[in-house]
Amino acid sequence: MRDFKKEIAALVAALPQIKETGLGESEVYAALETPSDEAKGDYAFPCFRLAKALRKAPQQIAAELAESGSLRADFLGRVANENAYLNFFLDREAVADDTVSDVLERGERFGASDFGAGRTVIVEFSSPNIAKPFHIGHIRSTVIGNSIEKIYRFIGFDTVRINHLGDYGTQFGKMIVAYRRWGKKEDVEREPIVTLLGYYQKFHEEADRDPSLENEARETFAKLEQGGEEELELWQWFRNESLGEFNRVYKMLGIEFDSYAGESFYSDKMGRVMRELSEKGLLVESDGAQIVDLSAYDMAPALITKSDGSTLYITRDIAAAIYRKETYDFYKNIYVVASQQNLHFQQFIKVEELLGYEWAHDCVHVPFGLVSLADGTMSTRSGRVVFLEDVLNRAVEQTRKIVIDKNVNTDNIDETARQVGIGAVVFNELSNNRIKDYVFSWDKILNFEGETGPYVQYSHARAASVLRKAEDAGVKLPGGTGASCGAYLRSDASYSLIKRIAELPAVILDAGEKYEPSIVTRHIVDIAQAFNKFYHEEHILVEDEAERDAKLVLVRAAKQALLNGLTLLGIEAPERM
Ligand code: ARG
Repeated sequence: MRDFKKEIAALVAALPQIKETGLGESEVYAALETPSDEAKGDYAFPCFRLAKALRKAPQQIAAELAESGSLRADFLGRVANENAYLNFFLDREAVADDTVSDVLERGERFGASDFGAGRTVIVEFSSPNIAKPFHIGHIRSTVIGNSIEKIYRFIGFDTVRINHLGDYGTQFGKMIVAYRRWGKKEDVEREPIVTLLGYYQKFHEEADRDPSLENEARETFAKLEQGGEEELELWQWFRNESLGEFNRVYKMLGIEFDSYAGESFYSDKMGRVMRELSEKGLLVESDGAQIVDLSAYDMAPALITKSDGSTLYITRDIAAAIYRKETYDFYKNIYVVASQQNLHFQQFIKVEELLGYEWAHDCVHVPFGLVSLADGTMSTRSGRVVFLEDVLNRAVEQTRKIVIDKNVNTDNIDETARQVGIGAVVFNELSNNRIKDYVFSWDKILNFEGETGPYVQYSHARAASVLRKAEDAGVKLPGGTGASCGAYLRSDASYSLIKRIAELPAVILDAGEKYEPSIVTRHIVDIAQAFNKFYHEEHILVEDEAERDAKLVLVRAAKQALLNGLTLLGIEAPERM
């Protein structure tokens, strides 16, 4: 696509008056604004900073430049001035031709770029804990991380999707102790996570009465770390059973990982971390435990090993970052993890820095807010959790009813219910800035009115249906590139839609840079709204062939833009709805 903003900047910078002020093209480019009111043009150049050099009032400068007639180009409709601003109106035909042909030429690659070529980005996301529920709190990391990875791949990076499973730590000592005392094999096999969670809860209840259980659990985990055969076998079994359950959810969401190297993967890589820490003189003993003192940085100490010698979460994270750098040579190592862990990430990135790793700050924590239930926070220990799998199943079930009630146009009710139900949950999750906390509510997730996933999917299906109807009516859908459609696409509704489509590539880059998929979510709602306005205001299947073809070409472009946006969010786009 042409960069009209850049072309305007070149035009402005070439004016003798501007040269006089010493302003270069890139400065003009940076100064160009996008008026929020479309009636004020596509771009506006504020003349305030020219006043001093030209010794004139900014309004006067703007008026003179607008009237001089020297700002002319094939892509410019007109240039006007309002107060101290020069307002540029692009030629609608030029923008339409350029945008629509780019979308049709690039198809599913529309909006993609090679911005990241030759660099590798790791996106670590989801990372649930083995033998614990995969609950509604995990949906955030799972869905946000999935989208961030897709966005990075789309803008040209090589990506690695890692699930850093919480499959190690003292809690496995507890689980093994509980299983040995109260466990039944058949129960675990029948319903692994609920059963294991029950053991875990029972452990805590009993340990309140009999604190020696805690010791037993610590010793059991120490045995596991030292490679105790029976402990390893039980642990492996818990892990497999849990993964089986997690994979059901990943399958529903259409999510796959390149690596499941979780915490346990690093258990044999601790020695090196300990050695490096001690060589750098960073380890301090405190009550038998080994810590890194971070008080100089206003942080609590990083606890590296416990008094019994067992390593901790943060130690495994340090080992994992080193391993990832050596294995993937990452440009960025992104962790999509709840904001509750902010301190943890600050600590471990600081420790990497102190270890002398110049890439320490290429490790980026991408935090997100808390999901709570209306009656308080979720708690695994108390058993007050909403399982993600239940949410997805219920969303699909509810959608199925709606699909049947509303007589939705589909030849496969189950498939549509699945695509729309799961799409609704994912879209809802990606609608707000990730850092915002929210209270989980069934009503909100299953509300299909307003700016929701189903609305965007429906707009996409509506575009598909327009194209189908045209074909059914014997219209041969226009092929080619749409390079001469612009003459018929000058109405406000068409232009608005074209502009929203044209903005998508920059929106995607911005979302990547900010690790914020909601920027894409909100933008495709804008495209959908612009498309629906166009659909209602314009008669598409008109007699005049050239006009009809132009409009159909725009419908195809809108459909493609919606599809590409939804795909980056990890949401399917049904052809019928
Ligand atoms: N398993 C952890 C949890 O559920 C999240 C892991 C985050 N990733 C990391 N590298 N520490 O809280």
